[in-house]
Formats: sequence, structure tokens, C-alpha cells
Amino acid sequence: MSSLQKITTGDGSVTFKNVELDETYHSISGAAQEALLKHVMPSGVLEHEDAVIGDVCFGLGYNLIVAIAEHQKKFPKGQLQIFAFENDKDILEKINEINYGVYEPAAGKIRELLNNRIERMLSYDIYFYEDDALTITLYRGDVKETLPLLASEVLEVVFFDPFSPKKQPELWSTDLLEVVYEVMEKDAVLTTYSCARVVRDNLKTVGFTVEDGPIVGRNSPGTLAIKRFLFD
Ligand SMILES: C[S@@+](CC[C@H](N)C(=O)[O-])C[C@H]1O[C@@H](n2cnc3c(N)ncnc32)[C@H](O)[C@@H]1O
Repeated sequence: MSSLQKITTGDGSVTFKNVELDETYHSISGAAQEALLKHVMPSGVLEHEDAVIGDVCFGLGYNLIVAIAEHQKKFPKGQLQIFAFENDKDILEKINEINYGVYEPAAGKIRELLNNRIERMLSYDIYFYEDDALTITLYRGDVKETLPLLASEVLEVVFFDPFSPKKQPELWSTDLLEVVYEVMEKDAVLTTYSCARVVRDNLKTVGFTVEDGPIVGRNSPGTLAIKRFLFD
């Protein structure tokens, strides 16, 4: 039996459950809705005609697919530069099995990306997509190894979306969050669904200012972490 089970969420969009980890890839209230309301809108990416996005834990690509579609709708002449990180080939293959509805045109770009591996390293692969408005570089490998490949202070927005801190504490550790902080520009915003105490404490420890994110599909808020300097 596959360890990935298909689920239709409350807004009609499709996600999967990882049976081994006993976790879904999205809130069952709505995968596309979660991407839009918890990540894309609060990140501020729709307030900038040009932006550089980091997508930590790309999964089924919802956060990026929604970001690309909504950004192009608002800024037809805008430019997005995207760096994405994911380690699991099986979940990437599932993108071909999903109909992303109104977001299909953006999903098509992601499928093109996944058909264009440009480098094969010992422990990670690099995929690349480019058109007039968009570049996407996807690192398929362990994000702990691939995120440090970015230059300092490049990302203006980060969608931070690992499985839960209970299941994958290492992805919410100060070790990785320090790297995330380093590759983010000043005033850049990180969005995440978790408001766990340990997550917020770790974000603060590495230097972020932490605020409540929106409440979507559950009782508790997400978290926004901002790389804000108090004294300039
Ligand atoms: C909650 S899902 C992400 C959902 C995704 N953001 C979306 O919009 O579809 C978490 C993802 O983190 C990935 N992941 C887990 N450990 C990882 C690691 N060490 N490096 C990179 N990705 C990892 C999983 O394979 C999974 O796809």
C-alpha cells in the first residue's frame, strides 16, 4: 500500500496524507485556501511587483502555485524569482495526479520545472524553470543541506511549511532557523502554520520578531516571523 493517501479537502482541493508520519500535507479544511490565506496573503508578496521567494518544504507546490497565480493576476508585468526546497520524489510525482482547478496554468509551470533537472549532485538534484516573468530553482534534497547553498540576504518572503515540530523537530530547530534568517533580507517575512511555543521561541532566539498569523481552518493562529532590526 502506498504511504500517500489522497484526500479531498473542504475547499475541493486535493492533498495527501503521509500514512507513515500520520500527517496530512495541508489542513483538511482546504489546501488551496490554506496556501492563499496562511502563506501568500500574509507574506506581503502581493504588495510587491517584483519579489524573491523561498519555499521551504515545497511538497505538492500549493504555496508556490497559488503565489504565482495570484501575483501574476495582480502584477501582469511583475517578476518572481523563486527558490524551492523538497526532499521527497514521491510527493513531487503526485503533482501530476492533481487537478489544481483555477490554479492549473501555474501548476503547469511547476510540472515543466519538474521535467527539467539541470544538475545531479551526490546528495541533491537541481531543477530549473524560466519564462519572461518567473524563474524557479528547486533543490531536491535535504533542506538542511541545500538551504545553505543560497547567498546571504536574498529572500524577501519565505513560506516555511515542514511537517509538525512533533514529527520533524530538526526542521524547526535553531540550527536550521539560523540559516533561514541568514538567507532572508532585512524586513523579509516568514509565514508558517505553527504557533507552537517551541517554534516561536526558536524563531525569537535566532533574531526574528514574531507575530500572530491568520487563523485559518483551526482554532489557533499561524505565525509570521519578520527579520526586523530595531536599530538601523
Ligand atoms: C506539510 S508538507 C508541505 C506542503 C507544501 N508546502 C505545499 O504547499 O504543498 C511538508 C513537506 O516537507 C518535506 N520535507 C520533510 N523533510 C524534509 C527535508 N529534510 N528537506 C526537504 N523537505 C522535507 C516533505 O516531504 C513534505 O513534502
